[in-house]
Amino acid sequence: MSATTLAQNLIPQPQRLEHREGAFRLDSSVRIVAPNDLRSREIADFLRGAIRDDSGIALAEGRNGRAIELRLDPKIMGEEAYRLTVTKDRIALAASNHRGLFWAAQTLRQLLPVERSVGPISIPAMRIEDAPQFSYRGHMLDVGRHFMPVEFVKKQIDLLSYYKLNTFHWHLTDDQGWRIEIKKYPKLAEVGAWRTEADGSRYGGFYTQDQIRDVVEYARLRNIMVIPEIEMPGHASAALASYPELSCRKQPIDVPNVWGVIKDVYCVGDEFTFEFIENVLDEVIALFPAAYVHIGGDEVPKDRWRESASSQKRMRDENLKDEHELQSYFVKRVQRYLAGKGKTLIGWDEILEGGADSSAIVEVWRGDAEGAKALANGNKIISAGPFYLDSPLNALTLEKVYATEIVPAAYASHREQVLGAEAPLWTERVTTANAETLLYPRLIALAEITWNADKRDYPDFLQRLQAHYRRLTQWQVGYGPENRNVVDFRFAWNPSAQNWRVQAERGFSDLQLRYTTDGSEPSSASPGFTDSLTLSQVVPLKIAPFRGARAYASPREFTMVSHKAVGKSIQYSSQPNANYRLAGEQVLADGLLGGGSFADGMWTGWQGENLRATIDLKASTPVNAISARFLQQSGSWILLPKAVRYSVSSDGKRWKRVYARSFDVDAGSEQRLVEDVAFHADKPLTARYVRMEVDQYGSLPAGHNGAGHPAYFFVDEIVVK
Ligand code: ACM
Repeated sequence: MSATTLAQNLIPQPQRLEHREGAFRLDSSVRIVAPNDLRSREIADFLRGAIRDDSGIALAEGRNGRAIELRLDPKIMGEEAYRLTVTKDRIALAASNHRGLFWAAQTLRQLLPVERSVGPISIPAMRIEDAPQFSYRGHMLDVGRHFMPVEFVKKQIDLLSYYKLNTFHWHLTDDQGWRIEIKKYPKLAEVGAWRTEADGSRYGGFYTQDQIRDVVEYARLRNIMVIPEIEMPGHASAALASYPELSCRKQPIDVPNVWGVIKDVYCVGDEFTFEFIENVLDEVIALFPAAYVHIGGDEVPKDRWRESASSQKRMRDENLKDEHELQSYFVKRVQRYLAGKGKTLIGWDEILEGGADSSAIVEVWRGDAEGAKALANGNKIISAGPFYLDSPLNALTLEKVYATEIVPAAYASHREQVLGAEAPLWTERVTTANAETLLYPRLIALAEITWNADKRDYPDFLQRLQAHYRRLTQWQVGYGPENRNVVDFRFAWNPSAQNWRVQAERGFSDLQLRYTTDGSEPSSASPGFTDSLTLSQVVPLKIAPFRGARAYASPREFTMVSHKAVGKSIQYSSQPNANYRLAGEQVLADGLLGGGSFADGMWTGWQGENLRATIDLKASTPVNAISARFLQQSGSWILLPKAVRYSVSSDGKRWKRVYARSFDVDAGSEQRLVEDVAFHADKPLTARYVRMEVDQYGSLPAGHNGAGHPAYFFVDEIVVK
């Protein structure tokens, strides 16, 4: 590619760029000149290393010759503003402070050709004047649900920095894992960092304080602020499992292995809780120089406080009228503690419940109405809700991210309180195997719109992005498709051929699907297919997507079952929820069982409706057993139904009830349950039609995090034997 087009590939798009006559010849005789302060020399060293790594050119160390000059110029206005001038004789990077100077260096890097050249590089003459539109441009990584190793975190920091995102929000603790070593409370790492998965395996990991310091320093060198998040008072089960005395019930609990909102929270009636939190924060503050500490504050069920004597006493003593005010008391008390250490508190928008101090920064995730409330209360805000990168690629497309207004109409009169935006990656269903498919290129779109929202031009962005894809490939970044999932599967039974057809809808045309049928993990050497695969018998099928040798996700496992209703016509009296009917019309008679995740497309969910599912076996058939599995995962609003009934018929008109079962549903249980609802005929029946009726639970009860909303029921297959 010719050098002149490179300046047109900058992301984010700079505020002003003028081309000039001529070009600067970059070769190994060029040196870097920088002011003699430590940070300027660090930036010069960073730039020298980046030019060597990106282009292969090792710059001269000498005192003579043409130069890349770094300069601090107080006349350049703006916290992160910079000017980059390329003439025939020199390249000048100037800013009033080091933050701007570093971004100038990143812009210069993006002017280098993507492919390494053998000879000198010609950089066209130009002048760029640039500054970001928003001061907060961030990415949040949840390492609580799945642990991400230091090397992975550093790689993402490199990428954030390349695109001038300036904040890495490190979500270090959650129910399912505590990930930061705290010297005063060693059990947080010994106990809280590890959970036993449903299959009995142990999962976990944590960062030592040395590793945290190393990452924070790595980020500092790259102009990235690291904000730690220590979740409180909810999403704290891992801490409560480590120190049960922090909970209201004082009972041992396990580190949870299911997702959702969990009722056990820090007991805010007890002084010991505050002592613990302050001691933890002391160690956190010593590790993170950022002026901010994120304390979470989201999704706090009030059940335990209602039943706890100390919490109720606290409410009386402090004159608090309900548990929302108790939460507000907690947040304000932690906020005062942090303020005493010179730190500003950031919390999710629930910190507004029961009243919030206007000096807290509110991270908005539940919608513009919550943002508007925070703004009216005088808080500064960070917009996160529209940028949840755990959303599937086909739902939150690249274009949708790019088109999102960071200051929607609802915020218009408070423009100056909107600090910027952040894209969180929650990792319930994310590991290092698929994280980058969700992060990129969507995070690159966020980088552009937080830097320069007013210059948005999607077709132009897509064009510039093409060069970046080549760069990302060189850096072994497993970026995802722009508007399709990496791969979606559909299964169908073909009655004439008596086989299953696995249909794959691929997000990239060069994606290969590698599979095994012996239980082993697919590798890049396993047999492959692109669009479809046929299987004539039940096997332990595992499929993983690859681009070249690189796995693009963890393998998907499919559990098949052979029975009399597979592939037969099935009618539903009500349609499943659109988000949970991924596997097609046949889903309850497709020969596939649900797996570990209710969102795997094999489980199917109905919300707020009863169901009558009728299967036509097409001929009079001996029926010995009918069964179906139902799921309960209360934190995700999924409850067992009230009742399940099976009937059979020979003509589809007159029905014979063969089985009925009702459930005494415990909506308060946080255990994941799979209930096999099985009928076995005493003596063989003969039927053409088989029917399952399900009475749903109804509205989620008081005290549930979704109280008043209709519950879901989830079922995977109607197995007829
Ligand atoms: C959140 O997504 N619970 C902040």
